Order: sequence, then structure tokens, then C-alpha cells
Amino acid sequence: MKLLSGTASDELAKSIADVLDVPLTNVNIERFLDQEIFVRINENVRGEDIFLVQSTAAPANDHLMELLIIIDALVRASADRITAVIPYYGYARQDRKTGGRTPISAKLVANLIQRAGANRVLTLDLHAGQIQGFFDIPTDNLFGQPVFEADIKGEYPRKEHKNLMFVSPDTGGVVRTRALAKRFEADIAIVDKRRPKAGESEVMNIIGEIEGRSCILLDDIIDSGGTLCNAAAALKDQGAKDVSAYITHGVLSGPAVERITNSVLKEVVITDTIAQPEAVKKCPKIREVSVATLIGEAIRRIANDESVSKLFD
Ligand code: R5P
Repeated sequence: MKLLSGTASDELAKSIADVLDVPLTNVNIERFLDQEIFVRINENVRGEDIFLVQSTAAPANDHLMELLIIIDALVRASADRITAVIPYYGYARQDRKTGGRTPISAKLVANLIQRAGANRVLTLDLHAGQIQGFFDIPTDNLFGQPVFEADIKGEYPRKEHKNLMFVSPDTGGVVRTRALAKRFEADIAIVDKRRPKAGESEVMNIIGEIEGRSCILLDDIIDSGGTLCNAAAALKDQGAKDVSAYITHGVLSGPAVERITNSVLKEVVITDTIAQPEAVKKCPKIREVSVATLIGEAIRRIANDESVSKLFD
């Protein structure tokens, strides 16, 4: 097996390499003066089982193109099997036509990755599970749930579990929220969110009795922070004891860090699927937990033809 990384996922790939106890394959990723990407793989990969780690996070277009170009280099270097390990799969929110004459970019990106020559995909908490079906190659969609479950158990002593309330910030996240709440035998609440326009969110109602409860909001993505901060404020207004959040992918664009800092949220826990700038690392309300062990174990199982779903039993 060989493990490679694109520039979007250097740190996470190093942690995965530590978990697997394999070195990262030496790759040069450079830019021509006009910013076109040049890749050279500095080791023989002929006949190898390759795992290439690259999140398609911001700048999404550059990181996606880099992923495609590395895959192309691997195909031309006669790699035996290429698994695109995409911890954060960007463009996933455009997973259906939202109106006339709009694209389905989650499908387009799947086509590009396949066409470039990937043989498998390994990803985590896809925005919508059905995106798996946009690929005609084996695609494993891992869940961040076990990582969050372990962290919550560390943060909230057992005697506090009965006061926990897991909250979905919109109707789309109910299945994910229910699955985690079940592990704690806790209740769930749902925020009825509306988007008057892209990038803006409004809380209409909260479904569930949250007075005096420690609320944990769960989501796959935090982008501008509007959804999360508005939901937290509404929960507090209705008498929640405190509100924290567990979000898989810290997209954290625009005003997100400032919004979180000034919000009623006690803490926002994100994973390391997206490399974060200093401003995020320094924010006292944001904490990162790693998915390296989870992804590393999934890679080990794929390489050895073992069950991946067993990881979530
Ligand atoms: C929406 O369906 C997603 O699960 C997130 O709730 C959304 O992308 C978060 O966006 P923002 O932080 O910009 O409100």
C-alpha cells in the first residue's frame, strides 16, 4: 500500500500515515507561473494499491483540480488501484436541481474523479448519503459519529447523559442526530430552519422540549455559521441550559469565526477533515478532534479486503 497527500490535506495525511505506520510517498506539487498545476511522483508506484488523501475544501476548484491531476499522474505511472480518500467532499451541497437551469455539481465532481481514473472513493459524512450513488465505483462513506460519541462521553459525565438533548439544526440532519442520540439514550429536538436566500438562515420553530437541557447541535457542515449560531440563540431563548455543537466539516468561511465567538455557543467541536487557518486554531470556542484513526483504520480494512461497516457496529 502507498499513501499520498495533496496540498489540501497535508496534516491529516501525516496523522493517517502515523496510524498506519507507513511513510507518505514523496510527491512534488508545484505551480507554473500562470498557476497551472504540475505534479511529479518521486517514487515507483507501478502495481501499487494507492490511497490518495485530498479534501476538496477551499479553494475548492484548485484542490479538486490538484486531486484530478495527481490521479492522472498515478494512472500514467501504472498504479494498480487508486482510492481517492476525500475527507471533505466539496460541491456536495448542490446534490439536486434546486430550480430550472441549475447544475448538480456533486454529480459532475463524481464524474470528474471517476473519469480521471480513481477506482474507489473513501469519504466521510457526505452532505447527502445518496451522493454515494453518483459514483459508479465502490464508495465508502464513513461516519464521524464514533469520534463525536467518544468526545461527548469524555465531556459529559454519565450522570449528565439523561439531561442531554441532541438537536438537528434542520430537518435534513434528523437521521444523523437520532443515530447519535440513541447511543446516549437521549432525546432529540429539531430546528425548523428556512433559507430566505443562499447564505442566510432563519429559525422558524423548535420541535421538542428543551428547557433546562444541555443541547448538542449536530451538523455535517458549518460554513458561514448562520445556521448554527441562529439555532443556538433560539435554543437559549427557549430555556436551554447550555448549547454546544459537533460539526464534521469546518468549512468556516466569511464571518463564521466572528459569529461563533460572539454567539451563545459554549463550544463548537469540528474534525480535522479540513485544514484550518490560525484564526480558527486560536478561537477559544472552537476545538478540533481528529478523524485520522477512523480513516486510517478504514484504509487498512480496504487494503486487506475487510469489512468497513464493522467500524460502525
Ligand atoms: C445544510 O444543509 C448543511 O447541513 C449546513 O447546515 C449548512 O451548510 C451550514 O451553512 P451555514 O453555516 O452557512 O449556515
